[in-house]
Amino acid sequence: MARRILVTSGLPYANGHIHIGHLVEYIQTDIWVRFQKMRGNDVVFICGDDTHGTTMMLRARAENKSEEEIIASMHEAHLRDFNGFGIEFDFYGTTHSEENRQICADIWKALRQHNLIEEREIEQLYDTEANTFLADRFVKGTCPVCGKKDQYGDNCECGAHYSPTDLTDALSTITGTKPVLRKAKHLFVNIEREHKFLDEWVHSGALHVEIANYLTGQFLNNELRSWDVSRPAPYFGFEIPDSPDNYWYVWFDAPTGYIGSTWQWCKLSGKDYKKYWQDSETEIHHFIGKDITYFHTLFWPTMLKVAGLTLPKKVHVHGFLTVNGEKMAKRRGTFILASTFLKHLNPDYLRYFYATKTTNRVDDLDLNFGELESRINSDLVGNLVNLASRTAKFIKGAGLSPSYPEDGGLFAQGAALSDEIADAYENCEFGKAVRLIMECGDRANKFIEDSAPWSIPSQPDNENKLRDICTIGLNLFRQMVVYLSPILPRIKTETENFLGGTISGWSDSQQPIIGQPVHSYKHLIKRVDRAAIEQIIEESKQPETNDNSSREFQDSGDVLAAEPLLSERITIDDFAKVDLRVARVVEAAEVEGARKLLRLRLSFGGNESRQVFAGIKSAYNPNDLVGRLVVCVANLQPRQMKFGLSEGMVVAAGSGNDEIFLITPDDGAKPGMRLH
Ligand code: 2FM
Ligand code: ZN
Repeated sequence: MARRILVTSGLPYANGHIHIGHLVEYIQTDIWVRFQKMRGNDVVFICGDDTHGTTMMLRARAENKSEEEIIASMHEAHLRDFNGFGIEFDFYGTTHSEENRQICADIWKALRQHNLIEEREIEQLYDTEANTFLADRFVKGTCPVCGKKDQYGDNCECGAHYSPTDLTDALSTITGTKPVLRKAKHLFVNIEREHKFLDEWVHSGALHVEIANYLTGQFLNNELRSWDVSRPAPYFGFEIPDSPDNYWYVWFDAPTGYIGSTWQWCKLSGKDYKKYWQDSETEIHHFIGKDITYFHTLFWPTMLKVAGLTLPKKVHVHGFLTVNGEKMAKRRGTFILASTFLKHLNPDYLRYFYATKTTNRVDDLDLNFGELESRINSDLVGNLVNLASRTAKFIKGAGLSPSYPEDGGLFAQGAALSDEIADAYENCEFGKAVRLIMECGDRANKFIEDSAPWSIPSQPDNENKLRDICTIGLNLFRQMVVYLSPILPRIKTETENFLGGTISGWSDSQQPIIGQPVHSYKHLIKRVDRAAIEQIIEESKQPETNDNSSREFQDSGDVLAAEPLLSERITIDDFAKVDLRVARVVEAAEVEGARKLLRLRLSFGGNESRQVFAGIKSAYNPNDLVGRLVVCVANLQPRQMKFGLSEGMVVAAGSGNDEIFLITPDDGAKPGMRLH
């Protein structure tokens, strides 16, 4: 029986353009939705702009426009980018809608009825010139821990976390003036009262076990902090009906936008939105990035449960995008807007490449342009399209054979993979699906190589033979296209034009087509043009600024939206296996030919010294390291590297890119000491 499925992607902020980091999620969701539609399920794909908050209010003031004007133009720009990448929503709405206001009011009423709303007075910094309270990220000053200047109100580059009132010389980033402390009433949701429900829901199968464990370890093992869901005026959003001059915080009315947009879509298509949000038969699937897990897995289920709405069947959480192994960066030209990519390269390249990298884990995804080039050239040009281009020309208007010729079981072998490939799509293991499909292509291309239609003399006696080889080649090609169509819908459409007939469902992979005419072959995909990649990077180069559209810069209130600690639990015995030792750097040098490495010689006291290669060159000058104490994993299996043997690993904190901080023990520690 067909499943009724409602799918959402995170709502992008209306104050920034779509970039290739966002696209990881939208492409992933679009592939999943297209797959479900091909399987004959009743699917609706809902998204929209996330419009409220302080940033939008300030932008409107700065540009001397209304918030609505900005929202309208960003809505258009977002849809243009999504269209360009073949991301096909059934409805793309906005959180700034009457439907959303109504949903918020309903949920609010339910929260009140359950006595979950509490009132408290909060003292916060206030900008008297801009007439607004200042969220942590709108305050800068000197770090109270390390004394570094120009640090944000919530944390410092040194890693310290504090509140903005702890900063010395705090200044508002909006006007540059000194803020004052002011009290205001805030409304909180006491989610602790739903602790038991959350404990159960988190382990109900809706979340990957990795996420469930993270939530338990980080939050559910302790008392849950109440959630501050109101902001005093002025604020761009919805005023809280029973609390004049207070507005719902943007993270309250963002997820409700999923429902508001569903409702708008239902009105347009004559459907009842309750069938989607108040019917346990409907599966709700959210696709989100790992940084917003907290909102979707603690607050959102609480809001839904209390209001009697359907809980998500699954929250699919993905990792971040890195480009060429590093965080996207404007100064490196890797902070690439969707529109810049579209100007120079075929969007199918990115759809396909991201698919090859998609697993159902929360791993980060690396876009390495060299790898993208070789994957596209070998898989799509050299494998898939090669099958069509090498056979189509020999069929010369003759059409496909009237019955499907003997192919040594190749078509049947591909057809038998249908369930395995479908399972991979269902579980968001698109990389696995692609691997299985490309293996079909390898077998098919070998068949064409062995049959060598190009060496069969073109004469009437050979016509049937040639036609049979081509019929097989083109059917094996079409079978791959059916399986790939969630990822490459444009190639699916062009294949329909080329071979006739429609590809409407998954079952099209089970039956070869026969007897029909073949239209002239038009090239389906080109090799990647390296110069175009370079142009994209050049065009994207900009000085580094604080981007208002990035998640870190949002008004995230009392919640730290930093990268969550999503690591698997280990036992104390596992940990005891790691021999961490204090060591002294006695030599440090650059390594010829290595971009990131330094060669260190570490002394563990006595005569014991070892050579270790450490990827810390971007952050440390070798001369500054000699003499300092570090921490080393001493029992790591030695590794033979291109540059020599590495006999351990030095421990450092940071993002692994330019931000690297070696760990040093306190004064008094001696080389050779073990860490416990
Ligand atoms: O992190 C973000 O980009 C948010 N705008 C996502 C909101 S998702 C949902 F809750 F609306
Ligand atoms: Zn600091």
